[in-house]
Amino acid sequence: MALHYVTQQRAITDALRQSVMEDLPELADIGDAALRAKAVEAWAFALAHSSFGRISDIPPGGNPGMNVLKRGSQADHLRGVARLALAIADEFAATRPEVRIDRDVVLAGALCHDVGKCYEFDPVNQARWADDPSATGQPTLRHTVFGTFVCLAVGLPEEVAHIACAHSLEGQHIGVSTECMIVRHADHAYWSVAGALGLLIPETLRPNAILRVRRLATELPRAAE
Ligand SMILES: [Fe+2]
Ligand SMILES: [Fe+2]
Repeated sequence: MALHYVTQQRAITDALRQSVMEDLPELADIGDAALRAKAVEAWAFALAHSSFGRISDIPPGGNPGMNVLKRGSQADHLRGVARLALAIADEFAATRPEVRIDRDVVLAGALCHDVGKCYEFDPVNQARWADDPSATGQPTLRHTVFGTFVCLAVGLPEEVAHIACAHSLEGQHIGVSTECMIVRHADHAYWSVAGALGLLIPETLRPNAILRVRRLATELPRAAE
């Protein structure tokens, strides 16, 4: 049977890094310059190992074909989770000054939590896995697992790799850090609230017994004139 290897498909250039900064402008708010550079590098590395040109080319889903936004791209989700996570951190820091939160880890972790989607969402990989799941697994690696590899490969700290690893199902099997708990809730809130607000494509909604979807303002019947 043919074996498969994850290979770099194009050079990691300054133009690619620049596209990462353009798609995720909140990266500029990471205070630690080395952490900021490695967060950019994680996305450039992951993109260079995929068939996606830039982050905004990745479809806006929670998983491939599931909880997909009606418009926008994966960058909208990443930026939304980053802002929600910081809002959670800043709320507690402002009202409970005795708490200790590493704001840079929250921000870098939120912006990189789905870096593995370059691999899991890659249509080339999706087609290969669908062709013979018995040989490859389907997916071979979830984005959490591939994202953990990417974070460690570019030299991001374990604290950020942990958030890529444990923000989703995998985090139900290990103890999660404080910063990971914040990003997990921001991530899950993003999809749950987007679903309730009617921002997700109905056929892609993850089964959810308590969800009742509100129509968008643009979907209401026009009032009689
Ligand atoms: Fe995720
Ligand atoms: Fe996410």
